Amino acid sequence: MAHKIDAVDYSITVGDQSVLSEFSNYIEFNYPNAKKVIIADTNTLEHCLPSLIKEVSSLADAEVIELEPGEQSKDLLICESIWETLTDINFSRVDLIINLGGGVVTDLGGFVASIYKRGVDFIQLPTSLLAQVDASVGGKTGIDFMGYKNLLGAFQNPVAVFINIDFLRTLNKRQLVSGMAEVFKHGLIADSAYVEAVNATLYDIDFQTIVATSIRIKNEIVQSDPYEKGNRKLLNYGHTIGHAIESFYLGSAESLLHGEAIAIGMLIEAELSLIKGLLSIEDLTTIYANFQPFFKLNSFPTEDWPSIITLTYQDKKNESSGINCTLLTKIGEGIINQIASSEELNLALINYHNRISV
Ligand SMILES: NC(=O)c1ccc[n+]([C@@H]2O[C@H](COP(=O)([O-])OP(=O)(O)OC[C@H]3O[C@@H](n4cnc5c(N)ncnc54)[C@H](O)[C@@H]3O)[C@@H](O)[C@H]2O)c1
Repeated sequence: MAHKIDAVDYSITVGDQSVLSEFSNYIEFNYPNAKKVIIADTNTLEHCLPSLIKEVSSLADAEVIELEPGEQSKDLLICESIWETLTDINFSRVDLIINLGGGVVTDLGGFVASIYKRGVDFIQLPTSLLAQVDASVGGKTGIDFMGYKNLLGAFQNPVAVFINIDFLRTLNKRQLVSGMAEVFKHGLIADSAYVEAVNATLYDIDFQTIVATSIRIKNEIVQSDPYEKGNRKLLNYGHTIGHAIESFYLGSAESLLHGEAIAIGMLIEAELSLIKGLLSIEDLTTIYANFQPFFKLNSFPTEDWPSIITLTYQDKKNESSGINCTLLTKIGEGIINQIASSEELNLALINYHNRISV
């Protein structure tokens, strides 16, 4: 049975393949005569588009825009080429963009839609675990710019989100594990019982329940603070340092997936929480024990640390000369607006490396 979750002004439907027939009814009812443009990447085009078209006959003649997979596609030049295509086909405000893909496609497609003609309707059909539990909901859209993550973006809600868990069947294990980082984040900042529940073997996980639970946690936080003036910053746990690590290694041989970088970012920010006397050593040790079976905990050469620390200062969340982080007071409880100095960050990096090497 599908789960229905109401967000601020749209609904999120989570279920198996049958969600696609609900999606079909939705667009036939709401967009009977609209042009439909599907944005997908090469992988979702191959693995997800055929079953989508099979279930949703009205998409048979949709315009399909194909992106290269990966973070490098969250780029202004790609946006420009999509806006050119939309202009060439006379796409208007009554038409519809459908984003079929992971967080790259949902972030970029949402951003493209939010800007074009001052905003056109879009629907998120997330296909990776990370996009299903996190990126497709909450209204943050964006692209990377000048080497910084999500520097250009807009808050723009989709008209609806339809989540077909069966799309995850073709996702590879590394990508599934990457998605688990945001799942752990939701538990660590808001629900200790959820952390325990997900701390099971990867392939024993009931993804429908996981996705619905994560979305409920995220949605509740977003609804209380849609524009990130306060409580929504809880969701940035692990991201201040995680984004800096992701940006620093982007495009290199050591490049990390988003969730992989965020998992490490969460551990370093848990170290910061300990340094600041907010988190107990017992909870810190438990978090490492939870993460170790799931995530590869990379070490980073000390010569890279100054650049990583410099990158954290570019984070959008910073409000003063220090680094504004969301930290933890215990497992299941985050605390926003904690200012960390470069020295504290350096110490957290040292402690992280010491702990992963024992
Ligand atoms: N907007 C937000 O609130 C928010 C939150 C978290 C993350 N993000 C963003 O999300 C992005 C990361 O998302 P991601 O991890 O989904 O990356 P991604 O979009 O690159 O997808 C990961 C890989 O999986 C492939 N893939 C996706 N679905 C598939 C399927 N069903 N079968 C086979 N292959 C499939 C993709 O082609 C890609 O190669 C980052 O850019 C991050 O900044 C945004």
